[in-house]
Amino acid sequence: MNAEPHPHAQHFPHVPNAPHSHGHRHEGAEDVDWEALGPQLERQAELHLPFIERATAWLAEQLAGEDVSRVFDLGSGPGVVSGVLARTFPQARIVAVDGAAGLLDRVGTRAASEGLADRVVTHRADLPGGLDGLGAADLIWTSKVVHHLGDQQASLRTLAASLRPGGLLAVAEGGLGTRCLPRDFGLGRPGLEARLEAAEEDWFAGMRAALPGHTRVVEDWPALLAGAGLVHTGTRSFLTDLPAPLGAGAREYLHDRLGRLRELLGDTLDAEDLRTLDALLDPRAPEGLLRRPDAFLLTATTVHTARSAGATLPGPSRVVAAG
Ligand SMILES: C[S@@+](CC[C@H](N)C(=O)[O-])C[C@H]1O[C@@H](n2cnc3c(N)ncnc32)[C@H](O)[C@@H]1O
Repeated sequence: MNAEPHPHAQHFPHVPNAPHSHGHRHEGAEDVDWEALGPQLERQAELHLPFIERATAWLAEQLAGEDVSRVFDLGSGPGVVSGVLARTFPQARIVAVDGAAGLLDRVGTRAASEGLADRVVTHRADLPGGLDGLGAADLIWTSKVVHHLGDQQASLRTLAASLRPGGLLAVAEGGLGTRCLPRDFGLGRPGLEARLEAAEEDWFAGMRAALPGHTRVVEDWPALLAGAGLVHTGTRSFLTDLPAPLGAGAREYLHDRLGRLRELLGDTLDAEDLRTLDALLDPRAPEGLLRRPDAFLLTATTVHTARSAGATLPGPSRVVAAG
């Protein structure tokens, strides 16, 4: 989605366009059909709501006493976080920015259903550009997006230029991969999830290498934020911890995720692991992910924050706190 697994390991929607997809890619993006992933992205974000609410509360602590009237959610996807940001910062107008028009439609629908249509607006852009004309943000949130941009350092510099002096940039990147089964769950060779994660690392490296303008950097996010001219103010990791037995929504999400892993990494797995995956994906089998009693959802997401220069800043704190 970082021992240190890559940021992608926890949010697995890195899937090439399906053979029959209509390819709603935006210019410059890698070969991912983000619009087709809308329902999966929305369900994933909803399952992570407890983490998102704790993370945005932490941002509110950092901005306490300051005017927060303009907030950008960059690479918003279906806008689950945009809604949380609107509730956390009740004086703010939230601009959800994404390259996928269909996902921005979802943002609008969601905001209306949450009674937030007057404060959550959408803007289509091919990041890191396309923010001109939006004004300077008091807070920018961007989750699992920068690693889809070819030059991460240059992109952060561009995003930082959209902050007001003293404004806060929060980048959710890194953390721990998603786990959902015991190491030995009674089928096939133990350690399947560790092998999937290793295969995904290779896939991820290839995905990044194929991005337009790909530039390799050390993915030290506080250092990258400093390289963007910002002052690092904190790093925290937040758990998503849904123990067994899982409800239907979490099971369906994990089943869908495993199906995508099968599709994406199948060629790299041995015959035994493929048989195990197929057994887990069988919707009727008692040992399948939709039915087995031991499935859980455990992952951690790391959020790094940094301020634009130009205001009195608190000293940096590098706190790693679970929960
Ligand atoms: C992994 S999803 C993350 C969605 C959401 N931020 C979350 O954390 O749930 C990445 C999002 O970034 C958007 N995106 C990726 N590359 C982009 C680009 N170059 N310009 C604009 N949006 C982009 C995709 O359309 C997708 O909605």
